[in-house]
Amino acid sequence: MLSESFLQELRDKNDIEDTISRYVELKKAGKNIKGLCPFHSEKTASFTVFPDTQSFFCFGCNAGGDVITFIKKIENLDYIDAVRLLADKAHIELPKDNISDESHKLRTRIYEMNTIAAKFFHNNLKLDFAKVALQYINKRALLPETVTKFGLGYALDKWDGLINHLKEKGYYLEEMQAAGLVVKNDRGTYYDRFRNKLIFPIIDLKGKVIGFGGRVLDDSKPKYLNSPETLIFKKGTNLFALSLAKNENSDTIILAEGYMDVIAMHQAGIKTAVATLGTAITPDQARLLSRYCKQVIIAYDSDEAGKLATNKAIKLLNEVSVGVKVLSITGGKDPDEYIRTYGVEKFKLLLNGSGNYIEHKINQLKLKFNLDLPDEAVSFLKESAVILSEIRNPAEREIYINKISKDLKIEKNSFVIEVERYRKQIYKKQEKQMLKAQADKLISKNDKINSERGTNLKGARAEERLIGIFFANKDYLNKILQQINIETDFVTEFNKSIMLALVNRVKNNLEIELINLSGELSSNQMSKLSEIIANNVKLGNGDINEALELIEVIKKEKNQVKSKDTREMTNEEFLESIKKLKK
Ligand code: UTP
Ligand code: MN
Repeated sequence: MLSESFLQELRDKNDIEDTISRYVELKKAGKNIKGLCPFHSEKTASFTVFPDTQSFFCFGCNAGGDVITFIKKIENLDYIDAVRLLADKAHIELPKDNISDESHKLRTRIYEMNTIAAKFFHNNLKLDFAKVALQYINKRALLPETVTKFGLGYALDKWDGLINHLKEKGYYLEEMQAAGLVVKNDRGTYYDRFRNKLIFPIIDLKGKVIGFGGRVLDDSKPKYLNSPETLIFKKGTNLFALSLAKNENSDTIILAEGYMDVIAMHQAGIKTAVATLGTAITPDQARLLSRYCKQVIIAYDSDEAGKLATNKAIKLLNEVSVGVKVLSITGGKDPDEYIRTYGVEKFKLLLNGSGNYIEHKINQLKLKFNLDLPDEAVSFLKESAVILSEIRNPAEREIYINKISKDLKIEKNSFVIEVERYRKQIYKKQEKQMLKAQADKLISKNDKINSERGTNLKGARAEERLIGIFFANKDYLNKILQQINIETDFVTEFNKSIMLALVNRVKNNLEIELINLSGELSSNQMSKLSEIIANNVKLGNGDINEALELIEVIKKEKNQVKSKDTREMTNEEFLESIKKLKK
């Protein structure tokens, strides 16, 4: 366990506002500080920082906690590594005998195994057995320096090549399996996941190998095999080659689909290319991009799947306010193929000419209609009005309205009316959604972390407020415990677990500040506790009388739940249950 005094110092030297403002643009709003939540996409700030309690809470997605929780979430670290990062930042030393729990140890071992595996695969390229791989590398026109830069490698055509190598280095089969490097079959035999494949290491923003992709060397299927999710590799949260692209400090990043597209572009000197790996981009990846650039050029494949993925990417990137351009590749399936066929200079021309996404959508639409026929021209106008209604900037909207009116030689006014009609619809829909979300939250049908809350609303609310009052007044401990047995009287298990953690600490004369709890509570528990504390700002810290009243409510609610459970069955119910048994 980390000592209380160490954690206090860690918190004092890593002020939550300073820390968070390195990642989020914060603005003062009354006593509080707000910004756009980095953990979900939003356009109005519901992410709130509370300097008084050194906590944060997002009223939109319910993420919350202390400074350690924040670093854990935003940097995707485990507890101890988040502590380490903050300690380094503040130039304080981590106590030598710090806890290193099992999952932390395993994470560390997985990072190590990945590094060893990447080197192993890379060195394999020098072996005689690797001729097939080298031939393939030549066929794909990859230069030696590219192979080195991306750390490409070769997985031997053997069942235990990597297994034996990792065994020699002192790793166990179970750990190799947890790293996703090794698979266990039904009969309990372990074997290498990657065999006879060209290997692409996937590297995170800190330069660590978090997983691998492997490509077959022929036309067999599946074409690519990737690492499964592991303790350190979560799909859809990273971008291939972002660790390289971000060093270019460019306003623009090029987003492609595949490993080979990115590598071909980098080799051709276009070093701001990254890939989603797979087709569609996730909200997490969109947010990640928004941290490193102002504009994205989507360079997805020209096939149907690529077009669909492009539309999804446009939407998600718009949501995080990143400018979007779309590259349309004609005469090639993807950037890699295009560069190999027509050369990089032609590809660069394509890049420079890539259109704003609105143009891209309008162009796609034009292909659908024969604009010489009046009926079809009207349909085209209707559908383009929908597209233009998505543009929020009035001046920009005007430009497109003018252009299309001119192209089709129509009177601009009726078109403007049409666009405005759709804008109002969008606005109404958004407003409705927001109201619904607020209403849902109020009656909390959607509480994902405390599943009992919805059916025990009154009890759960009383519990939460009681926790809030106790958090602010720990000297109420004895008076509270005289009136309620937390173990048996609390209505919801989730709130009970939080209350018990607080009570136990106070009993042991320990602090119940968030910084001390974040090693012990789960991320859901931290979020809920931060919400409760955030509500204290509105409701005040309460007093003992309010606490005692809440206790009465909780006990009454619990009794009702109990009586529901143990109430004797009616005769009809009894007969029903017998019938069920007979079936
Ligand atoms: P593509 O099918 O477009 O492959 O998949 P590609 O990048 O053009 O591959 P090459 O040029 O034939 O080598 C795009 C990306 O989707 C993922 C991979 O990350 C690939 O780079 N993918 C594709 C898989 O994970 N598994 C597959 O079976 C296929
Ligand atoms: Mn390709």
